[in-house]
Amino acid sequence: PTIYIITPTYSRLVQKAELTRLTYTLKLVQCIHWIVVEDSTIKTQLVKRLLAKSNLKYTHLNVLTPPEYKLGISEKRWRKPRGVLQRNEGLRWLRSNKKLILSGSEGGVVYFADDDNTYDVQLFDEMRSTKKVSVWPVGFVGKLRYESPIVGDGRVVDWFTYSKSNRTFATDMAGFAVNADLMINSKVEFSVKSSRGMQENDFLVKLKITLNDLEPKADLCTKVLVWHTQTMEPNVKNEELLMKFGKSGSNLNIEI
Ligand code: UGA
Ligand code: MN
Repeated sequence: PTIYIITPTYSRLVQKAELTRLTYTLKLVQCIHWIVVEDSTIKTQLVKRLLAKSNLKYTHLNVLTPPEYKLGISEKRWRKPRGVLQRNEGLRWLRSNKKLILSGSEGGVVYFADDDNTYDVQLFDEMRSTKKVSVWPVGFVGKLRYESPIVGDGRVVDWFTYSKSNRTFATDMAGFAVNADLMINSKVEFSVKSSRGMQENDFLVKLKITLNDLEPKADLCTKVLVWHTQTMEPNVKNEELLMKFGKSGSNLNIEI
């Protein structure tokens, strides 16, 4: 089966570094199709060139998250939904290419891979056999060493997490994959209206699956094969100082 990997990405100092790292990870994985969705009004040259150079099978899409996006008028603190519209754009592409995808007789799997996480290539072998939805632990989420499904008798019975709140599926975006048939034949999308930390749960609830349907991977969820790493914003303050002291900053024609 082909793994369709949907990656939202946005322009920032570390974007090329993150995408370079992810590219080289994906190069080690057989039979994948990388769907990269830029949070932008345009497909940038940086991402275009990076993808062209990668030799991976890919689709390049873009959709801007409106800067004024609010979670809801009633909410005190609003924050921009991260990657929500981009993942939906990836799903829209998959669904509009239904024939192409289902013609690959062996079926497929859909995985949402953020551009900044760290992936063991074994994770992709684990998810490839997904019948409905497979799940596994994720390192460094929920202010814990890892969060994980709790497995009993080979099935998921609960979640190891500090704050489950009212989640049926207390998993991070990096902690599950969905069978491509199931995904394509449903109309389920992520919602900008989901409350903080509820995005994954709300999505899986809408897929109409039960806890018992979940397929625990990574040695019955005893291995961490993906880490929710977050890259520190690099300090480039001396660029300004150089200019302040009448010198030129770095060459902006050199892409970083
Ligand atoms: C956590 C989860 O791991 C994400 O899957 C979830 O989308 C996010 O929270 C959330 O609250 O929405 P976190 O590390 O905080 O992740 O989020 P980022 O890694 O900053 O963003 C998730 C993805 O969206 C990344 O691939 C990033 O490149 C992309 N993104 C982020 C955009 O496309 N636009 C943005 O403005 C910000
Ligand atoms: Mn992240």
